[in-house]
Amino acid sequence: MIVKNIELNAFRNYKNESCFFDPYVNVITGLNAQGKTNLLEAVYYLSGARSFRTRSDKDIISHGSQSASIRASVNSGGRDQFIDIYISRSERKKIFVNGVRMKSASALAGRICCVLFCPEDLDIVKGGSSERRRLMDLAISQLRPKYAEALGEFNRLYEHKTRILRDYRTKPEILDVLDDFSLNMAKYGAELIRYRAAWCERVKEAAARIHSDISGRKERLEIEYKTVSTIERPFGLSSREIFEKLLEHQERHREAEIDAGQCLSGAHKDDIIISIDGAAASKFASQGQLRTAALSLKLAEREVCFEDIGQYPVLLLDDVLSELDEKRQDYVLNCIAGGQVMITCCAGGDISEKTGGRIISIKEGAFM
Ligand SMILES: Nc1ncnc2c1ncn2[C@@H]1O[C@H](COP(=O)(O)OP(=O)(O)OP(=O)(O)O)[C@@H](O)[C@H]1O
Ligand SMILES: [Mg+2]
Repeated sequence: MIVKNIELNAFRNYKNESCFFDPYVNVITGLNAQGKTNLLEAVYYLSGARSFRTRSDKDIISHGSQSASIRASVNSGGRDQFIDIYISRSERKKIFVNGVRMKSASALAGRICCVLFCPEDLDIVKGGSSERRRLMDLAISQLRPKYAEALGEFNRLYEHKTRILRDYRTKPEILDVLDDFSLNMAKYGAELIRYRAAWCERVKEAAARIHSDISGRKERLEIEYKTVSTIERPFGLSSREIFEKLLEHQERHREAEIDAGQCLSGAHKDDIIISIDGAAASKFASQGQLRTAALSLKLAEREVCFEDIGQYPVLLLDDVLSELDEKRQDYVLNCIAGGQVMITCCAGGDISEKTGGRIISIKEGAFM
């Protein structure tokens, strides 16, 4: 799958710009703060109408504008498709595929998939569990519209249940609906857990292989999906089985949740345990090991996407290639052959000699 061209209107620091891409390698260069990451953000936005930098769509509308749009022509599964997304400060965002209005962002799943690798991705290994849930959520949502829908419902229920637990002391009657919310959270949570377990099972193998290759077969990377304690081995269980075990866990924690005034049981606490040679990576890994593990996970995400839909996702590398040592650079460049890739680098730190492909120069939100 490839993005053929993109047109941006009032998107971040782009006023009204369009640009075409090479089907393989695109090197995006420019000085700091010119719009390189913004361009990757726009491409990424096509994969699920979500930004990787902000939760609020309003942030991506140019300062002083009321609305923004991203229009792109993409090729996916051998078919050209047109994606138009309109974002407004006052209305819900509108998404069109081939001119037809879509009901929700989940309709974008599978049309264009992106795997992003940026410096913040080191947090996947070192940061809190929310980083690893975000990794799963963004990756699986792109592949499975049903996952994106279940996640939306789950988050809505979670926020509501959190408000009940927070406010019941002043409004005791709201506790009456607590069990309904727990039940529904378990229903959608079971779906999330089933998908997450299956995805991690596939990423696990690919990531271990890639990490072993990059480290010259010296290191063993292991990842293990972890959910509530009543579900020891989630992979292979049906949604029904997961649902029942989730309910059991929720039941056990009901009193504690009321006492603490917080949601303590559910898929919102899931994590991925990452270890290198048997030791927890977040605690013991060196900088180089963290970098290699994060890179392996991202490249594994790309392979899983390829296995799943038979096409390589668009790989977005923001400011990372120049930070990798020669050996890892070569590894990445070898391994990305085949799909479309967009690589940003600062003017001066030129990597295009190594990568070839189209060079896109950006200055103050304009393509030169
Ligand atoms: N909503 C917005 N409206 C207008 N400008 C914005 C908006 N959001 C961000 N910008 C501006 O866009 C500019 C370019 O940002 P971007 O992150 O793309 O830079 P970059 O080229 O990736 O730089 P660096 O090399 O430092 O990573 C920044 O100066 C930022 O202030
Ligand atoms: Mg940048």
